[in-house]
Amino acid sequence: MSRLTRKITGSDLILFNVTFDMAILVCGATGFIGSHFCVLALQQGLDLLLLDNLENSSPKVLNAIREVTGISPRFVEVDIRDKSSLDAVFATNQVDSVVHFAGYKAVGESAAEPLRYYRNNVDGSLNLLESMKEHGVRKLVFSSSATVYGVPEFNPYTEEHRKRPFNPYGQTKSVVEDMMYDLCASDPQYALVALRYFNPIGAHPSGMLGEDPKGIPNNLMPFITKVAVGQLAELGVFGDDYDTVDGTGVRDYIHVMDLAYGHIRALQYLNSNAGYQAINLGAGRGYSVLELVSAFERINGVSIPYVIKPRRDGDLAAYWADASKAERLLGWKTQLGIDEMVRDAWAWQSANPNGYN
Ligand code: NAD
Ligand code: UFG
Repeated sequence: MSRLTRKITGSDLILFNVTFDMAILVCGATGFIGSHFCVLALQQGLDLLLLDNLENSSPKVLNAIREVTGISPRFVEVDIRDKSSLDAVFATNQVDSVVHFAGYKAVGESAAEPLRYYRNNVDGSLNLLESMKEHGVRKLVFSSSATVYGVPEFNPYTEEHRKRPFNPYGQTKSVVEDMMYDLCASDPQYALVALRYFNPIGAHPSGMLGEDPKGIPNNLMPFITKVAVGQLAELGVFGDDYDTVDGTGVRDYIHVMDLAYGHIRALQYLNSNAGYQAINLGAGRGYSVLELVSAFERINGVSIPYVIKPRRDGDLAAYWADASKAERLLGWKTQLGIDEMVRDAWAWQSANPNGYN
């Protein structure tokens, strides 16, 4: 498909030549994953228009993207729930394809406030698909999640695993996937890819971009880095009696730069392939909570005190990805391991104890 060419400055990834020319609208561009995608895509010479409502991200992310890439990104502050503003973006800008990261992502919060999740994740995506249709845009890469599978009937999850999300957040992702599937069935010109992320962690290796959750982190890696930097006293490990290697939960962690690169490969793919695809993006192996903690301590020389707590409601014991479809269709597989993930997460947090503030 394309030729192995170069290493991008500030990245450990071996990247391929980008051989496509398209104007890309990036929704949710200043968030954790979106910002890392933007850096990589801008460094690859792609033409991006960044969109975000800044509800869960800082405008300072734009400065960080500029500093890392040397490129001033074009940015519009728009809420995708606002259809007329979204239409105006399509009416006034060249858009050939869309990468859609915008949405809410906290599992627990989605159980407490399901309608807010459906409004943003489903309604926002519906607006986007409608605006795209009205402006003749038929290529989309969507941020889906391994959460769509629900309780594993087998491990690793393949894309054929039955979808049975067990929380409203996963349900919203599944509904958007179904809309994409139906749209492709209705019109053979559509090319829509749902990327089912496993557990993205890490940060840009420059230490200038990373994950900056508001308040006390829900997720494991940002909790660990907040303990490491001294802002939280100890990590609570949610359960040590699962049927896993050491009793703690097992997940398939993926470096956010690997994940970002998966989107570039997906854009390349949909440039020459029509129809709908759902594709796992994971490393294809799992690590337990305590294995991640111990890798963090070993690589960074920082100790992470922890206490065992009861299981967290809604958590699964263990799951990881069968990532062979991504390799087959996209020519993509992870290049960075757990050592790079914990190294880069710490480089970001130690250089920016208060995130972007
Ligand atoms: P994030 O919250 O850091 O980024 C999402 C961005 O979207 C934020 O900048 C937010 O301000 C913006 N946004 C939210 N609603 C919007 C709206 N209505 N209009 C415009 N902008 C809006 O989250 P992230 O970790 O970067 O996740 C990106 C996507 O990937 C999300 O859709 C999430 O559900 C999905 N995902 C994330 C994970 C994960 O563990 N981080 C795993 C699987 C899937
Ligand atoms: N965990 C702890 N202590 C914490 C936080 C988490 O022990 O303070 C454990 C969890 O119990 C689990 C593991 O660490 O075993 C990972 O938990 P995360 O909260 O980091 O991630 P989840 O697997 O629950 O979910 C994440 C995202 C979802 C996404 C999913 C995809 O939050 O949005 O990965 O696999 F859909």
